[in-house]
Amino acid sequence: MSLAGRSLVTMDDLSNDEVEGVFSLADGMADSLGEQSSVCQGKIMASLFFEPSTRTRMSFEAAMLRLGGRVITAVDIGATSLAKGESIADMARVVGSYADIIVIRHPWEGSAKVVADYAGVPVINAGDGGHEHPTQTLLDLYTIKKERKTIKGLKVALWGDLKYGRTVHSLAYALARFGATILFRPAPGLGIPDHVVRKLTAEYGGELRRYGTADQSETGGLFSLDAIYVTPSTPHQLAMMADVSLQVELEKGVDAIYVTRLQRERRDAAKVEGDTRREYPVVDKRLLRERTFKETLVMHPLPRVDELAYELDADPRSMYFKQAARGVPVRMALISLLLGSKKADTGRDDRSRKPGTSHPAYNRGFGVRCQNRNCVSVNEEKYIKPEFKIISLKPLTLRCIYCEHETFPKYVASAEWHEGTLKSKRYHSSDSHWMKKIRPENLIIFDSESEAQSRGFLPGKYAEG
Ligand code: CP
Repeated sequence: MSLAGRSLVTMDDLSNDEVEGVFSLADGMADSLGEQSSVCQGKIMASLFFEPSTRTRMSFEAAMLRLGGRVITAVDIGATSLAKGESIADMARVVGSYADIIVIRHPWEGSAKVVADYAGVPVINAGDGGHEHPTQTLLDLYTIKKERKTIKGLKVALWGDLKYGRTVHSLAYALARFGATILFRPAPGLGIPDHVVRKLTAEYGGELRRYGTADQSETGGLFSLDAIYVTPSTPHQLAMMADVSLQVELEKGVDAIYVTRLQRERRDAAKVEGDTRREYPVVDKRLLRERTFKETLVMHPLPRVDELAYELDADPRSMYFKQAARGVPVRMALISLLLGSKKADTGRDDRSRKPGTSHPAYNRGFGVRCQNRNCVSVNEEKYIKPEFKIISLKPLTLRCIYCEHETFPKYVASAEWHEGTLKSKRYHSSDSHWMKKIRPENLIIFDSESEAQSRGFLPGKYAEG
């Protein structure tokens, strides 16, 4: 299996077999960390970290040094020409001419995709805003697999800030694809975003099950009202037990609990009021005494703040420092595969089975913009054309190809009709019957009436639905 020349921007960029291939190579690297110094000799990795990092940056750099390569680094936007107004695309082109591979962390969602689109060398997303952090997921999955031998059929609880935590988004997609059951335990107001749930259910065949208040009281309010039961190819046992109660399931035990900190920096950037610290769920010795957690792996991408008690550090169930350490062999494996210095000897080349490739594209470049203020397409609109996948026609739902946030535009028109007379250049409500009449290739989408009117369209009879 070769991954030469490829980039890793989201978990969608790797098939399950390719993930297994990375793990198999990482096993070999872990067994002989000190004997890999000729693998990437002569290669240069650019390490661009425009947000704070300890683990990801240093483990990537350690990985490249152990492979015999060299590293060039920028760790502050203010010390680069981005601060002078240079675009991410221009920076990517230039850095791509200095280095053989780029690792980038940036606060804007979708920024790593732009770097991958322009750099001309493999690019690894080391965290793009609240979107994804796929290499963290690789080492998280690797840890679960090492400890439990399988991922399929496990119950994994995602805990804490599920809204802004990019590690949980990437991990949720990967768990779903590998057939795990996901339980959500969000901090108040920090639930898993709807667009992530929709992707889990629509693209990975997951079934979202909402629990009632009776279940809530039975479990002492331990878990939220939602749990995803994933049935990727054949329904696994839980999914077939339609009337099983949450309490009964929890009594069988949770295999792993994945704790995350409050992403204060993203809440502040989004100008969210209030302080959730007091209500933030904490994992400590008392919680782990519950029968549900008797044999539960305690995981955390780190850094921790107040949500994970230090008293657990000596507990054999605690995995977080092992996770961080495994970042080095996993990232060594990934770098050497993307540079074509290694091939993995397991897995089939099943890229065609990658999820998320079947939605039609919408890329007229006008009329509708991503509504996420932190999306790279909004912040670098001088050269990035808004581009979406059409997820659903009823209700009309577009997914930004950069940040994957969804938008629900209210107005549509047809390119075919307006080529007739000016009189027929009309826009309509996207939930009116006109929506069905417009052929997909003729669809023009607007997020407001003023946008439609600025393009010369007049309100149709059904502009209000
Ligand atoms: N897990 C993680 O991304 O840690 P850093 O922010 O320290 O890189």
